[in-house]
Amino acid sequence: MVHEPGTSKFQIDLRRHLREQNICDNLIHLICEIAEAGKYVINAVRTGDLGVAGTSNLYGEEQLALDVLSDRIIRKRLVHSGVVSSILSEEMDDVLRVKPAEDGLYSVAYDPLDGSSLVDVNLAVGTIVSIYSGSELLQKGRNQVAALYILYGPRVSLVYSVGKGVHEFTMNHLMEYTLTRENVTMQPSGNIYAPGGLRNQYSDGVERFVRYLEAKGAKLRYSGGFVPDINQILMKGKGLFMYPALNGAPEGKLRLLFELNPMAFLMEQAGGAASNGRMPILDICPEGLDQRAPVFIGCREDVEKALEFITEG
Ligand code: F6P
Ligand code: MN
Repeated sequence: MVHEPGTSKFQIDLRRHLREQNICDNLIHLICEIAEAGKYVINAVRTGDLGVAGTSNLYGEEQLALDVLSDRIIRKRLVHSGVVSSILSEEMDDVLRVKPAEDGLYSVAYDPLDGSSLVDVNLAVGTIVSIYSGSELLQKGRNQVAALYILYGPRVSLVYSVGKGVHEFTMNHLMEYTLTRENVTMQPSGNIYAPGGLRNQYSDGVERFVRYLEAKGAKLRYSGGFVPDINQILMKGKGLFMYPALNGAPEGKLRLLFELNPMAFLMEQAGGAASNGRMPILDICPEGLDQRAPVFIGCREDVEKALEFITEG
C-alpha cells in the first residue's frame, strides 16, 4: 500500500497497519499491547520523580527508578496479554516463563528504558523490543519475527518491522500512533556518524576508520542514547552508529538480546547493515542472556568500510 504524504485523507493507525501485514492476530495484539505500555512509560518519564531506586518521596514512600518502573509497566502488560510464553528484560536476572510453549505464543526480550540516565538531563530515551515465535529467547537475532522501538523525545514515535519493511508511527494529540513514514530506506552510504565509547580505547583499526570518516567530512551526531541515535540514522536514511570493542572491554557495551538484535533487524529491513566487526549481528548465536557485542550499524557501505579498517588492523 502506498501512502503519499498529504494525499491520504485518513490517518493510518498502528493496528490497521499491522492488519495489512498479513501476520497472526496474536502478534498484532502483542505489538499493540507493547505500544499501549509505551503510553504509561512516557507518562512516567515525563512526570515521575527523578529519584533513584531505594529513595523515598515527600510522603516517605519508596520510589522506583524510572527504568525499574518502566520494566514493571511493560512486563505486566506482556504477562496479561495472553500471547506471551517467555519474557526477559535488561532489568531481570533470568527468563520469566509465563506459559509453556504452544502455537501462537511469542517470547519477548526488551530494554524497558534504554539510556535512562539521560532522563536526568532531559535527553531522549527509548524502549527496545525483540520478538520471537515460541518460548526460546537464546537464539540468533535472524529468527526474530518482529522488532520495534519506542522513542520518547519531544514527540513519541514507534518504529517497527515484522520482516516486511520498517515503518514509523508518531503519537498524536489523542495518544494514537499514526503512520508517518512507511518503508523507511537506508542509502548505501552517508555522512553522519555516532561513535560510542572512549576514543583513546579504540583499536588502531577503529581509530583509522574514525579518521577516514572525519576526512570524508562526516558530521558527528552522538546523543548518548542508542534509540535516538539509531532513529536519527534510520529516519534520515544515512549514517553509521558504532560502539566498538574497547581496550579493557573487548565486547563493547551494548547487549545483544535487548539492544543489538532488534536494532540490527530494523536496520537490515531498511536496507542497512549491522556487524560486530566479524559477522552480521543477526547471525551471532548467543551463549548468555546478558551477552554484549561490539557493533557497527547503519549504511551498508559504511559498515563494510569499517570492516575493511578493522581487518587491516
Ligand atoms: O544502554 C546503553 C546506553 O545507554 C545506550 O543508550 C548508549 O548508546 C550507550 O549506552 C552510551 O554509552 P556511552 O556513555 O559509553 O557512550
Ligand atoms: Mn540499554
